[in-house]
Amino acid sequence: MSIFRTKSIASLQGDDSAHGKGLHRVLTMRDLTFFGIAAIIGAGSFSSLGEACYRGGPGVVYLFIICGIACAFTAFCYAEFATRIPVAGSAYTYAYASFGELLAWIIGWALIMEYSIGNIYVAFSWSDYFTGFLHKINIHIPAYFTCSYKEAKDLATAFAGDGTMKLNTTQKEVLQAWNTAPLLAGVKMIADIPAFCINIFITYLVYKGVKESKNFSNVMVILKLAVVLLVIIVGATYINPENWMPANDAGVHSFMPNGFGGVMMAVSGVFFAYIGFDAVSVLAEESKNPQRDLPRGMIYSLVICTVVYILLALVLTGVVNYREFEGVGDPLAKIFEVKNVGWMQMLVSICAVVAMTSVLLVFQMGQPRIWMSMSRDGLLPHVFQKIHGKNQTPSFSTIVTGAIVGIPLFFVDKTFVLDFTSIGTLFAFVLVCGGVLLLPPRPKEKGKFHLPFIPSRIIFPAILAIAVAVLLWKAPSYFSDVLVWNGEHACYNLSSFILWIVLIALMIAGFFKNFSLIPLLGLSTCLYLLTGMTPNNWLWFGIWFGIGLAVYFAYGYHHSRLHNRHHPILHLPKD
Ligand code: ALA
Repeated sequence: MSIFRTKSIASLQGDDSAHGKGLHRVLTMRDLTFFGIAAIIGAGSFSSLGEACYRGGPGVVYLFIICGIACAFTAFCYAEFATRIPVAGSAYTYAYASFGELLAWIIGWALIMEYSIGNIYVAFSWSDYFTGFLHKINIHIPAYFTCSYKEAKDLATAFAGDGTMKLNTTQKEVLQAWNTAPLLAGVKMIADIPAFCINIFITYLVYKGVKESKNFSNVMVILKLAVVLLVIIVGATYINPENWMPANDAGVHSFMPNGFGGVMMAVSGVFFAYIGFDAVSVLAEESKNPQRDLPRGMIYSLVICTVVYILLALVLTGVVNYREFEGVGDPLAKIFEVKNVGWMQMLVSICAVVAMTSVLLVFQMGQPRIWMSMSRDGLLPHVFQKIHGKNQTPSFSTIVTGAIVGIPLFFVDKTFVLDFTSIGTLFAFVLVCGGVLLLPPRPKEKGKFHLPFIPSRIIFPAILAIAVAVLLWKAPSYFSDVLVWNGEHACYNLSSFILWIVLIALMIAGFFKNFSLIPLLGLSTCLYLLTGMTPNNWLWFGIWFGIGLAVYFAYGYHHSRLHNRHHPILHLPKD
């Protein structure tokens, strides 16, 4: 069927040599590792980590380990693809070679959630820290110009319905924004102006060119790593080990006061903190030696960040009781506020602004490069691959990205974009790991990354058996709960049920086909993380998915280069 038409790897590389000359090959392995770190450490660690600690308690560390493992397997799969197909476009390009056009389009569409929608969350968090910093140096922006309209409206509605609601400091400011906002034509003028301004600045920087952006990004990465390490070192001196065994509502002391269910409720926030290592793969055409450096850049940045996150989560939950993080958007500054360390509060605020600026930069650079690849394949209009004559950057795509991040800033809130980004990215990771399972083996080549083949035939069933034994031992009601598809946990139970069916199917298929273990574990762990998504997440993801399909059949299917019989791409030799 033509919706499953695939591009051969030879033709993808043909595209690269035909078009890749438009971009500068300036990035080394160190630059790529820095790009990875620039993309990974940001709003996840500086902002969403607070809510994650509140939900999971110190046990949130387990989730950081699980997410780190899932991302490590996925990074290996990305690395394998990046070595075979060293062209820009990330998971989209890889899917085109393995699953075919329709799934490639779906992945490209899902990556908009990771790259553009994710940046909306980062821009909001950037604004939180930036305005907090201004506040400390006595510059005050009116509250109605520092929060999102939806957040203010939702809170005001909830408060009107329940006047006894207890508000924390941040919520009081948001309510004040609603009550004091000026009216224009009957509409309250509430918007996060700093978030909007940083988006304009970043769009301008990316438009100007990769070289300037690279230098800017490297400096920011060094600075943010230094300050995060300082937070860990200074924070460690304030740790009270009793905080690692806090009491829950029932008075029981535990490392996981809300159980493993509480830990899993933090999936979106924790997974968001890891998003970014894959962004390195979109820079294939600007990398000096992509087949050697892209895999290393991805894996090194992921390993560094995983270690940092685990230490950070232990320090945060060790310095103060996990309950103190309820509704806290600046958890790293919070621990020093509680301990009265003024200079660290200030330093963390500055560092957070720097860290999030670099995340914005990397994703805003990545999105246009994915669209450029999709446009070359005919799935998006030609203008998306237009390269600016002087700056040599994909100019039109860069501006559209700026608009996709900038306009929703006026309509959405943080929680929504956080969940939306995480579900879309996990979905893309599932397809990348699945794609590697389908790739034929290839011989080792010197100087290039090679995914080690570990046969899964016996090991995968053994791992599943261990998982079942641990679950029966630690959570005896797990398997009977999974069959209850109503009530509070209906979505989690149903998705867990589906997960186990899929795992058993993979185990059987893996037994006969002897799949490679690493992509199989990547696929399984990412599917597992998807079970933490709420019904609302699935609903919005379904809507987004439906719109994507409609766009493909209305435009991409007919304009695809593979649809045009006379296009030279069809005359290239098969792999
Ligand atoms: N991992 C990135 C961040 O936390 C998206 O900001």
